[in-house]
Amino acid sequence: MAPDGITTADLDPFADVAKRDPYPIYARLREAGAAHKIMTPRGSRAWLVVRHAAASAALTDERLVRSIHQDNGTALGWATVPDALRSMVTQHMMNIDPPYHARLRRPVSRPFAPRNVATLAADIARTARRFLDALAEDEVVDVIGDFAKPFSRNVISDVLGIPIDDRDRVFAEIDTATNPAPAGPEAVHSALEALHAYIRRFIGEKIRHPDGGIISTLATNPGDLTAAEVTAAVFILLATGYEAPIHLIGNGVLALIDHPGHAPALQHAPHLVDALVRETLRYDTPIPVSPTRIATTDIRIEDTVVPAGDAVLVCLASANRDERVFPHPDSFDLHRDHAKVLSFSRGVHTCMGSHLATLTGRVGLSALLSRHRAPSLAPGIDRSELLWVDGILIRGLRTLPIAPHPA
Ligand code: HEM
Repeated sequence: MAPDGITTADLDPFADVAKRDPYPIYARLREAGAAHKIMTPRGSRAWLVVRHAAASAALTDERLVRSIHQDNGTALGWATVPDALRSMVTQHMMNIDPPYHARLRRPVSRPFAPRNVATLAADIARTARRFLDALAEDEVVDVIGDFAKPFSRNVISDVLGIPIDDRDRVFAEIDTATNPAPAGPEAVHSALEALHAYIRRFIGEKIRHPDGGIISTLATNPGDLTAAEVTAAVFILLATGYEAPIHLIGNGVLALIDHPGHAPALQHAPHLVDALVRETLRYDTPIPVSPTRIATTDIRIEDTVVPAGDAVLVCLASANRDERVFPHPDSFDLHRDHAKVLSFSRGVHTCMGSHLATLTGRVGLSALLSRHRAPSLAPGIDRSELLWVDGILIRGLRTLPIAPHPA
């Protein structure tokens, strides 16, 4: 441990060298304690909660709050944008605590309830087939760029009613706005500006021509939400609904490549794809840490006291590998009990799109596996050279080229 209490570089799970496999570092951190002081890649200090019991408790601890901090802006380089843009990236459910949180979540939550999501299954399966059918049979397929990205983008666009002709442009802006590392601050700001203008026009269009969809219903009947809050609601649905499902599919395929023994079982028992989705969420979740929370008072986390005012990140990826809860946590096991997996968080901020995400993952992986029954890396691709998405918010590959399927 460094003199200021920050974990040393060899125990930094967010260092570039740990990108390929942060799990041995998480294991060492869990062994050493429940919470550790770390430096995030953007240079801010935070406590990382790594054991399952402590993580689970932190996610429902009302003394840890979101709204006084609104770190989304800081972590992504959005903090310096003009006020109108800031309201779009901050005034949504993810940044607000109870009792006000429900006011922003309730108006958009109903379509994401299990019963309503289940009605989308056939449409989502058609979307998956459409993108797979467009791929050449005898060529290398990039699971991320050729399939998961366009598939996920179209699923959430259909759900939100984004016109087909607008999709490429909107998600190119979302990509830039949510991935500051390659883009740089100016590109991020102009992407946010373009998104703000687009969302305002889109809402206006839904008011003029209501279509009964989620955004149309919200726009024509906003209740007590302000225009800025409706804009922020559309923004957070676009930003959260698109990227994580891409990497649920990518990380699931990678897990099968690394554990080829599961492919025959999946062929003979297609219902196991549901377990594949759940085990991928445990074993290699696309969202490894929760959004930042701030301690409103001194908070004891096992042997550690987090002082009031400090930032806390809950490491969902580490909690999911805690040996105290999951036996043999580093083995990829479709038959284990997934009830305690924390990938969708817990408490009031539990992922609102969890049912849509698991359905998208299940349908996408089923479709891919019906064509690539035993996926393997494309010839000439070295597993250790696969490139991971930058930053700590997403865990997923930039590209995942797999071999053509046997005829
Ligand atoms: C595999 C895919 C996904 C994963 C792993 C995931 C995970 C998460 C996590 C960890 C949070 C933060 C909870 C917290 O602060 O404690 C969250 C929040 C949220 N997610 Fe997801 N998510 C996924 C897909 C989706 C999809 C498809 C949508 C659809 C719109 C969505 C909508 C949301 C929303 C709106 C929130 C904010 C909830 C609130 O603060 O009340 N997510 N998600």
